[in-house]
Amino acid sequence: MRINRLVAATAGLGLALTLAACGGQGAGGVDDAPGGNSADADPSDQTIGVAMPTQTSERWIADGEAVKSQLEEKGYTVDLQFANDDIPTQSQQIDQMITQGVDLLIIASIDGTALSSQLESAAAKDIPVIAYDRLINGSDHVEFYVTFDNYNVGVQQATSLLVGLGFLEEDGTEAADAPTSPQNIEVFAGSPDDNNAGFFFDGAMETLAPYLEDGRIVVPSGQTDFDTVATLRWSQEAAQTRMEDLLTSTYSGGEELDGVLSPFDGISRGVITALQGAGHGPSLEEGLPIVSGQDAEIASVSLIDQGVQFATIFKDTRKLASQAVTAATSFLEGDEPEANDTETYDNGVKIVPSYLLESDIVYKENISELLIDSGYYTQEQVDTGQ
Ligand code: BGC
Repeated sequence: MRINRLVAATAGLGLALTLAACGGQGAGGVDDAPGGNSADADPSDQTIGVAMPTQTSERWIADGEAVKSQLEEKGYTVDLQFANDDIPTQSQQIDQMITQGVDLLIIASIDGTALSSQLESAAAKDIPVIAYDRLINGSDHVEFYVTFDNYNVGVQQATSLLVGLGFLEEDGTEAADAPTSPQNIEVFAGSPDDNNAGFFFDGAMETLAPYLEDGRIVVPSGQTDFDTVATLRWSQEAAQTRMEDLLTSTYSGGEELDGVLSPFDGISRGVITALQGAGHGPSLEEGLPIVSGQDAEIASVSLIDQGVQFATIFKDTRKLASQAVTAATSFLEGDEPEANDTETYDNGVKIVPSYLLESDIVYKENISELLIDSGYYTQEQVDTGQ
């Protein structure tokens, strides 16, 4: 990084000269910020490494592009890498960014526990690390975390399912004409190595708990523990296969399936494909079970608009990117970013100061208001699903 290189270069000239070189420059000292950067550092001299997990899900492409363009607008140079959901690839990309001397890292990890050695190297070079959307676990060297309120995302997923099943109104109040017979659901969770998956699952299952306890909702397969229902790498194909297996093992005798708790739009589409393949639907009007989601991916928004998927959760990646850029700029200017949560995200070594954003439930009725009016998608994208 720039200042470290400067110090190394001047070290041979003696301490007095080094101090003279930095003196009178405000935060020019090497020990001011976690990054040791200068308050008056020129962004054009600084490079930020941005590591994203995959391009197979559209949200991460949007995140990567939003972070890159917002940093570039501020004058920084950006090294943006996607890792095809492959842990060694991501580790290697981050190693390379560190070797090439990036000034700060923004990382959306694939496996939240697999980057300890990279974070050690970053710390040794005084490179601040911002965990992006997914917490990095088991390391002291995560300076900051920007994300959404992940527990609440799970609450919203379960809420949308309860709305679809007829227990709640869209405003969250009890429905006057709630079903009087038990509603059958199946449950899916996200990737077990992604710290967020547990938060989504806990938020959702705690919201469903009163209904499961008094029998208004039943899970006929009996599969409700996280390890059983988790979906490695959030894989659409794995979800489709598990849904097909569930239909065969539990529903082949003609039992009703009313809903599926899904934590991510890719999983939702895998589930919907399995359901339609087994003769359900094909639309909600024609009896397709209620399926929740997350990320407002365009393919799923289009399905919601067509009355196939019931709902999703909109997490505005532009806002998350902007928060990451604000935090990065703070570090690079020698300040501490502002956190709005300093209690929730314990990574096993420390509580990581976090900035949490809010998310929204998307139903057919509010697609325009949430996604089109805000400029996230055009009507044409919603119409074509692309
Ligand atoms: C993100 C979700 C996303 C999932 C799969 C999670 O870490 O928070 O928004 O659906 O990864 O990509």
